[in-house]
Amino acid sequence: MAIRKVGVVGCGLMGSGIAQVSAQAGFPTVVREVSANALENGMGSIRRFLEDGIRKDKLTQAGMDATLANLSGTVELGQLADCDIVLEAATEHLGLKRELLGALDRLCKPETIFASNTSSLSITQMSAFTKRPERVIGLHFFNPVPLMKLVEVVKTIRTDPVVLQAADAWCTAIGKTAVHCGDSTGFVVNRLLVPYMLDAIRVFEQGLATRDDIDDAMKLGCGHPMGPLLLTDHVGLDTTCYISEIMFDEFKESRFSAPPLLKRMVMAGLTGRKSGRGFYDWSTHPPS
Ligand code: CAA
Repeated sequence: MAIRKVGVVGCGLMGSGIAQVSAQAGFPTVVREVSANALENGMGSIRRFLEDGIRKDKLTQAGMDATLANLSGTVELGQLADCDIVLEAATEHLGLKRELLGALDRLCKPETIFASNTSSLSITQMSAFTKRPERVIGLHFFNPVPLMKLVEVVKTIRTDPVVLQAADAWCTAIGKTAVHCGDSTGFVVNRLLVPYMLDAIRVFEQGLATRDDIDDAMKLGCGHPMGPLLLTDHVGLDTTCYISEIMFDEFKESRFSAPPLLKRMVMAGLTGRKSGRGFYDWSTHPPS
C-alpha cells in the first residue's frame, strides 16, 4: 500500500512542521485546524520557516512555491476523507483524541492509516477508539520538525505489519529516519530525555549550579546542541510537566516525578518560549 495523499490534524508547533515536511517532499497535504485564525497562525509559521530557509540558502523560491502548492488548509475534517494517512497532532487530551479518531474513522476511506504524534498517550488506547485498530500507529516527530531527523514509529500488539512498512517508506520519502518501538509511555526518546530534563530542574532547584552553568555544562561537556533548561523552555514547561505526570502514573518511579519548581512555574504561567518566559526571558532577549 502506498501513501500518496496526506492529512494532518492540528497546525500548531508539531502539526505545522509535519505538514511542511510532507508537502516539501512532494505529497499533496491537507492540514486541518479548528478555526480560520488557528489555521492562519500555523500556515504563517510554515511560510516564515520556508522564507528563513531561502535566506539561509537551504531552499529556493521555486522550492518554497512548490511546497506551498502541495499544501492546503481547511477547518473541515471531511476534507481529509480521501487521504491515505492522517496524522493527528492535536492537543494532548485523551477525550479530544477519542472524539477526533471516532469522527475520522467514520469519515475516511477504510484503508486510511491513522497515526498519532502523541508524545505520551497510549497508541493502543487510541486505536481502540476506531474500528480499524490494525491501521493505527504512532508517528512521533521531534521539535523543530523540519530540522530533527528522527521519527519514532510506534506499533501496538494489533498493528498490521503492512501498515508499518507503508509508514517506514513514507518517513524515508520525507527525509526522516524511522526507529521502531513498542507502545510504552514515552517510547524511547522521552523515556530517556524526560528524566534528564527533570533532573536538570532538580539541580537548579537545589541551587547546585546556576541556569547558565547547567546549560553550559551539558553543551560543552557532552556536546549537546542546547542545555536541558533551554530545551525545556523550547518543549514547554507545561508540556514537560504533563508528560512527566503521565510517565509517573505509568511507571511509579520517582525519576519521572515533576519537581515542585516545575509545577510552580507552570502554575505561574512561565511555560517557556510559548509564553515569553520560562527559565529564560524570551520577550526581550531570546536566548541564542
Ligand atoms: N530552513 C532550512 N534549514 C534550516 C532552517 C530553515 N528555516 N533553519 C535552520 N536550518 C538549518 C541550518 O542551516 C543548519 O544547517 P547546517 O547544519 O547544514 O548548517 C541547521 O538547520 C541547524 O540550524 P542553525 O545553525 O540555525 O541552528 P542550531 O545549530 O542552533 O540548531 C537545533 C538548532 C537543530 C534546533 C539544535 O539546537 C538542536 O538540535 N536542539 C535540540 C532540539 C531537540 O532536542 N529537540 C527534541 C525536543 S523533544 C521533542 O520534540 C519530543 C517531545 O515529545 C517532547
